[in-house]
Amino acid sequence: MTHILGIAGSLRDQSLNRWLLEAAREVAPEGVSIEIFDLGEIPLYNADLDSDGARPASVERFKDALTATDALLIATPEYNYTIPGVLQNALDWASRPARRSPLSGKPVGIMGASPGSIGTARAQEHLKLVLLAALALPLPHGGVVVGDALRKFDETGTLVDEPTRRFLADYVQQLAAWARRVGAPAEAVQAVG
Ligand code: FNR
Repeated sequence: MTHILGIAGSLRDQSLNRWLLEAAREVAPEGVSIEIFDLGEIPLYNADLDSDGARPASVERFKDALTATDALLIATPEYNYTIPGVLQNALDWASRPARRSPLSGKPVGIMGASPGSIGTARAQEHLKLVLLAALALPLPHGGVVVGDALRKFDETGTLVDEPTRRFLADYVQQLAAWARRVGAPAEAVQAVG
Protein backbone atom coordinates (compact mmCIF):
# COMPACT_ATOMS: atom_id res chain seq x y z
CA MET A 1 0.00 0.00 0.00
CA THR A 2 1.34 3.46 -0.90
CA HIS A 3 0.11 6.26 1.33
CA ILE A 4 -0.12 9.81 -0.02
CA LEU A 5 -0.77 12.90 2.07
CA GLY A 6 -2.68 15.59 0.17
CA ILE A 7 -2.66 19.31 0.97
CA ALA A 8 -4.41 22.20 -0.76
CA GLY A 9 -3.10 25.76 -0.68
CA SER A 10 -6.58 27.23 -0.30
CA LEU A 11 -8.76 27.36 2.79
CA ARG A 12 -12.03 28.40 1.21
CA ASP A 13 -15.06 26.18 1.29
CA GLN A 14 -15.57 25.85 -2.45
CA SER A 15 -11.87 25.60 -3.28
CA LEU A 16 -11.21 24.19 -6.75
CA ASN A 17 -7.90 22.89 -5.45
CA ARG A 18 -9.42 20.97 -2.59
CA TRP A 19 -11.95 19.55 -5.04
CA LEU A 20 -9.02 18.49 -7.21
CA LEU A 21 -7.44 16.67 -4.26
CA GLU A 22 -10.75 14.96 -3.56
CA ALA A 23 -10.93 13.91 -7.21
CA ALA A 24 -7.39 12.51 -6.93
CA ARG A 25 -8.56 10.44 -3.96
CA GLU A 26 -11.50 9.14 -6.01
CA VAL A 27 -9.40 8.08 -9.00
CA ALA A 28 -6.44 6.69 -7.02
CA PRO A 29 -5.63 3.16 -8.20
CA GLU A 30 -5.89 0.14 -5.98
CA GLY A 31 -3.04 0.02 -3.50
CA VAL A 32 -2.81 3.82 -3.22
CA SER A 33 -4.58 5.79 -0.50
CA ILE A 34 -4.82 9.59 -0.25
CA GLU A 35 -5.46 11.32 3.07
CA ILE A 36 -6.22 15.05 3.00
CA PHE A 37 -4.61 17.27 5.64
CA ASP A 38 -6.27 20.66 6.20
CA LEU A 39 -3.80 23.55 6.54
CA GLY A 40 -6.41 25.81 8.18
CA GLU A 41 -5.02 25.43 11.70
CA ILE A 42 -1.39 26.17 10.86
CA PRO A 43 -0.41 29.58 12.31
CA LEU A 44 2.00 32.03 10.70
CA TYR A 45 5.62 30.90 10.92
CA ASN A 46 7.47 32.24 13.95
CA ALA A 47 11.04 31.05 14.46
CA ASP A 48 10.72 31.77 18.20
CA LEU A 49 8.14 28.97 18.38
CA ASP A 50 10.03 26.58 16.12
CA SER A 51 11.65 24.41 18.76
CA ASP A 52 10.68 21.22 20.55
CA GLY A 53 8.12 21.98 23.23
CA ALA A 54 7.24 25.39 21.76
CA ARG A 55 5.92 24.35 18.35
CA PRO A 56 2.12 24.73 17.89
CA ALA A 57 0.26 21.38 18.10
CA SER A 58 -1.14 21.79 14.58
CA VAL A 59 2.38 22.15 13.19
CA GLU A 60 3.54 19.04 15.05
CA ARG A 61 0.56 17.14 13.61
CA PHE A 62 1.45 18.31 10.11
CA LYS A 63 5.11 17.36 10.47
CA ASP A 64 4.21 13.95 11.93
CA ALA A 65 1.81 13.32 9.03
CA LEU A 66 4.56 14.26 6.56
CA THR A 67 7.06 11.97 8.26
CA ALA A 68 4.63 9.06 8.15
CA THR A 69 3.55 9.38 4.52
CA ASP A 70 5.20 7.78 1.48
CA ALA A 71 4.53 10.83 -0.70
CA LEU A 72 3.01 14.30 -0.62
CA LEU A 73 0.50 15.59 -3.19
CA ILE A 74 0.06 19.37 -3.32
CA ALA A 75 -2.83 21.15 -5.02
CA THR A 76 -1.83 24.78 -5.33
CA PRO A 77 -3.82 27.77 -6.46
CA GLU A 78 -1.90 30.49 -8.28
CA TYR A 79 -1.91 33.85 -6.46
CA ASN A 80 -0.20 36.72 -8.26
CA TYR A 81 1.80 34.30 -10.41
CA THR A 82 3.09 32.30 -7.45
CA ILE A 83 1.97 30.04 -4.61
CA PRO A 84 -0.39 31.35 -1.91
CA GLY A 85 0.95 32.38 1.49
CA VAL A 86 -1.06 29.59 3.13
CA LEU A 87 0.98 27.00 1.30
CA GLN A 88 4.35 28.77 1.53
CA ASN A 89 3.80 29.19 5.28
CA ALA A 90 3.00 25.51 5.84
CA LEU A 91 6.03 24.46 3.79
CA ASP A 92 8.24 26.88 5.75
CA TRP A 93 7.25 25.16 9.02
CA ALA A 94 7.74 21.74 7.43
CA SER A 95 11.15 22.65 5.98
CA ARG A 96 12.93 23.01 9.32
CA PRO A 97 15.35 21.94 10.59
CA ALA A 98 17.14 22.54 7.29
CA ARG A 99 18.34 19.30 5.64
CA ARG A 100 16.72 17.16 8.36
CA SER A 101 13.08 18.18 7.89
CA PRO A 102 10.19 15.83 7.09
CA LEU A 103 10.26 17.21 3.55
CA SER A 104 13.83 16.04 3.02
CA GLY A 105 13.77 13.11 0.59
CA LYS A 106 9.97 13.17 0.33
CA PRO A 107 8.53 12.37 -3.10
CA VAL A 108 6.05 15.10 -4.08
CA GLY A 109 3.42 15.49 -6.79
CA ILE A 110 2.23 18.91 -7.89
CA MET A 111 -1.09 19.97 -9.33
CA GLY A 112 -3.34 22.99 -9.45
CA ALA A 113 -6.62 24.35 -10.75
CA SER A 114 -7.69 27.84 -11.69
CA PRO A 115 -10.55 29.45 -13.59
CA GLY A 116 -8.03 31.00 -16.00
CA SER A 117 -6.36 29.33 -18.94
CA ILE A 118 -2.86 29.04 -17.42
CA GLY A 119 -4.11 26.65 -14.74
CA THR A 120 -1.45 27.51 -12.08
CA ALA A 121 1.50 26.59 -14.36
CA ARG A 122 3.55 29.58 -13.14
CA ALA A 123 2.88 28.82 -9.48
CA GLN A 124 3.81 25.18 -10.03
CA GLU A 125 7.29 26.13 -11.24
CA HIS A 126 7.81 28.27 -8.13
CA LEU A 127 6.53 25.46 -5.93
CA LYS A 128 9.09 23.10 -7.41
CA LEU A 129 11.89 25.51 -6.39
CA VAL A 130 10.55 25.76 -2.84
CA LEU A 131 10.45 21.98 -2.62
CA LEU A 132 13.97 21.63 -3.95
CA ALA A 133 15.19 24.09 -1.29
CA ALA A 134 13.78 21.71 1.31
CA LEU A 135 15.49 18.71 -0.38
CA ALA A 136 12.12 17.24 -1.34
CA LEU A 137 11.89 15.19 -4.52
CA PRO A 138 9.18 16.63 -6.80
CA LEU A 139 8.23 14.53 -9.80
CA PRO A 140 10.56 15.98 -12.43
CA HIS A 141 8.07 16.32 -15.27
CA GLY A 142 5.12 18.71 -15.41
CA GLY A 143 2.32 18.46 -12.90
CA VAL A 144 -1.43 18.38 -13.32
CA VAL A 145 -2.52 21.74 -14.76
CA VAL A 146 -6.28 22.27 -14.71
CA GLY A 147 -7.16 25.50 -16.54
CA ASP A 148 -10.70 26.68 -17.15
CA ALA A 149 -11.55 24.72 -14.02
CA LEU A 150 -15.01 26.18 -13.41
CA ARG A 151 -16.19 24.18 -16.42
CA LYS A 152 -14.55 20.97 -15.25
CA PHE A 153 -16.21 20.61 -11.86
CA ASP A 154 -19.95 20.51 -11.27
CA GLU A 155 -21.70 22.55 -8.57
CA THR A 156 -21.15 19.80 -5.98
CA GLY A 157 -17.39 19.88 -6.52
CA THR A 158 -17.15 16.68 -8.55
CA LEU A 159 -14.56 16.61 -11.33
CA VAL A 160 -16.73 15.82 -14.33
CA ASP A 161 -14.26 16.38 -17.16
CA GLU A 162 -13.29 12.87 -18.26
CA PRO A 163 -9.93 13.65 -19.92
CA THR A 164 -8.86 15.47 -16.72
CA ARG A 165 -10.00 12.53 -14.57
CA ARG A 166 -7.93 10.15 -16.71
CA PHE A 167 -4.88 12.45 -16.61
CA LEU A 168 -5.23 12.75 -12.85
CA ALA A 169 -5.51 8.98 -12.35
CA ASP A 170 -2.36 8.53 -14.40
CA TYR A 171 -0.51 11.19 -12.42
CA VAL A 172 -1.44 9.62 -9.05
CA GLN A 173 -0.15 6.32 -10.38
CA GLN A 174 3.10 7.98 -11.47
CA LEU A 175 3.50 9.61 -8.07
CA ALA A 176 3.07 6.25 -6.33
CA ALA A 177 5.65 4.71 -8.70
CA TRP A 178 8.00 7.67 -8.05
CA ALA A 179 7.59 7.15 -4.30
CA ARG A 180 8.46 3.47 -4.62
CA ARG A 181 11.49 4.33 -6.76
CA VAL A 182 13.04 7.30 -4.93
CA GLY A 183 11.39 7.20 -1.52
CA ALA A 184 14.37 6.88 0.74
CA PRO A 185 14.90 7.32 4.44
CA ALA A 186 15.62 10.99 5.15
CA GLU A 187 19.12 10.05 6.33
CA ALA A 188 19.99 8.85 2.83
CA VAL A 189 19.11 12.26 1.39
CA GLN A 190 20.89 14.18 4.15
CA ALA A 191 24.01 12.27 3.29
CA VAL A 192 24.09 13.89 -0.15
CA GLY A 193 22.12 17.12 0.54
C1 FNR B 1 -5.98 34.91 -7.80
N1 FNR B 1 -6.24 34.17 -8.96
C2 FNR B 1 -5.25 33.98 -9.90
N2 FNR B 1 -5.40 33.07 -10.93
C3 FNR B 1 -4.40 32.85 -11.81
O1 FNR B 1 -4.55 32.03 -12.71
N3 FNR B 1 -3.21 33.54 -11.70
C4 FNR B 1 -2.98 34.45 -10.73
O2 FNR B 1 -1.91 35.02 -10.65
C5 FNR B 1 -4.03 34.69 -9.78
N4 FNR B 1 -3.85 35.58 -8.74
C6 FNR B 1 -4.75 35.62 -7.71
C7 FNR B 1 -4.47 36.35 -6.56
C8 FNR B 1 -5.35 36.34 -5.49
C9 FNR B 1 -5.00 37.07 -4.24
C10 FNR B 1 -6.57 35.62 -5.58
C11 FNR B 1 -7.52 35.58 -4.42
C12 FNR B 1 -6.87 34.93 -6.72
C13 FNR B 1 -7.53 33.48 -9.11
C14 FNR B 1 -7.47 32.09 -8.53
O3 FNR B 1 -6.93 31.22 -9.51
C15 FNR B 1 -8.88 31.62 -8.13
O4 FNR B 1 -9.37 32.47 -7.11
C16 FNR B 1 -8.89 30.18 -7.69
O5 FNR B 1 -10.23 29.74 -7.63
C17 FNR B 1 -8.20 30.00 -6.34
O6 FNR B 1 -8.10 28.64 -5.99
P1 FNR B 1 -9.19 27.92 -5.06
O7 FNR B 1 -9.43 28.77 -3.85
O8 FNR B 1 -10.45 27.79 -5.88
O9 FNR B 1 -8.59 26.59 -4.74
